[in-house]
Amino acid sequence: AIDLTGRHFLKELDFTAEEFRHLVDLSAELKAAKRAGTETRRLQGRNIALIFEKTSTRTRCAFEVAAADQGGSTTYLDPTGSQIGHKESVKDTARVLGRMYDAIEYRGHGQGVVEELATHAGVPVYNGLTDEWHPTQMLADVLTMAEHSEKPLDRIAYAYLGDARYNMGNSYLVTGALLGMDVRIVAPKLLWPDNTIVELARQMAAASGARITLTEDVSEGVRGADFIATDVWVSMGEPKEVWDERIALLGPYAVTMDVLRATGNDAVKFMHCLPAFHDLGTDVGREIYERHGLTELEVTEEVFESEHSVVFDEAENRMHTIKAVLVATLGSA
Ligand code: CP
Ligand code: NVA
Repeated sequence: AIDLTGRHFLKELDFTAEEFRHLVDLSAELKAAKRAGTETRRLQGRNIALIFEKTSTRTRCAFEVAAADQGGSTTYLDPTGSQIGHKESVKDTARVLGRMYDAIEYRGHGQGVVEELATHAGVPVYNGLTDEWHPTQMLADVLTMAEHSEKPLDRIAYAYLGDARYNMGNSYLVTGALLGMDVRIVAPKLLWPDNTIVELARQMAAASGARITLTEDVSEGVRGADFIATDVWVSMGEPKEVWDERIALLGPYAVTMDVLRATGNDAVKFMHCLPAFHDLGTDVGREIYERHGLTELEVTEEVFESEHSVVFDEAENRMHTIKAVLVATLGSA
C-alpha cells in the first residue's frame, strides 16, 4: 500500500509515478464521496498555514474548502500580512509555523524559498506555485484529462502552447515525462524550458516510456493531441515590460479554432490553469487593449467558451486534488 504520511509536495518529482497516480485516484474517490454526501472527515484537529506571497483565487480557495470539508482549519497569510521575507527569515518562519501547524502551503517566487521552508518546518510543506513549478495544478490537470478521455494516461497526448520557460511549461513537461504520456511543448525556442529540465524530462521518459517533443511548429506539435493547454503569456511577478516581447513571440501560438482543428481530433479538449486573459474587465486586459488593440491573447473567446473547453472542470479539480494531498500526507486512517 502507498503511504504518503508526512511527505512534502514541493515539485512533481517528489513523487514516483505510482505515488502521483495514487493521488489522482484518491482525488477521484474524494470527489465522488463529496458528491454522494458520504465524505468522512480525516483532517479533524489539523491546522494548515497558507502563505501567499503572490495572489490567488483557485489555490487558496481549494486549500480552504478542502480542509474545511475534512474537518481541518486553515490560516491565510496574504502577501503583506506576515513578517516572512520582510522582517523574519524563511528559516525562522518555518520553525515558528512548524510549532503551531500540522502543514504549511507556500506560494511565492523562488523554488528555493519553499525548499528552505520544508528543510526547517518539521511538518509537510506544499508548493502552491513558484516561478519554477506548479505541482498541485498538475494533479488537477491529470485528473481532468483522466475524466475527459477514454484512454489510459500513458496513451494520452497533450500539447502545451505558450511560455514554456515558466512554472506551467516546466510542470507539464516533467509530469508527462513522469507518467509516460505523449507531451509536446510548442513554443518559440527562446521560451522553451531550461536545458536542465529538458534533459531531466528526457531521462525520465527513457524510464517511463513517455514521448517528449519540443517544437516551434504548431501544426506538427498539435497533430493527434487529445488536449491542448496554454497559460498566460506573462506570469505573476514578471515585469510589465515583457508584454510587448511576449505578444510578438507568442502571437502564432495563440489557441484558436484553427489550432484545435489542426489536431485532427474532433474530441480535442482545451485546458488552461486560469486566470486567463480574455477579459477586458481585468487591469491587464485594459492596458493591453489600449497599447496593442488586442482583445484576445493566449486563447480566443471562441475556444474558451466552446464545447471543447474543460477549464472549469479543471478549476474545480484543484479542490479535490488538493484535498487528496492533505488527506494523504496528514489524514487519519
Ligand atoms: N490556477 C491557479 O493556480 O489559480 P490561482 O492563481 O487563482 O490560485
Ligand atoms: N504562469 C502563471 C500561472 C498562474 C496560475 C503565473 O505564474 O502567474
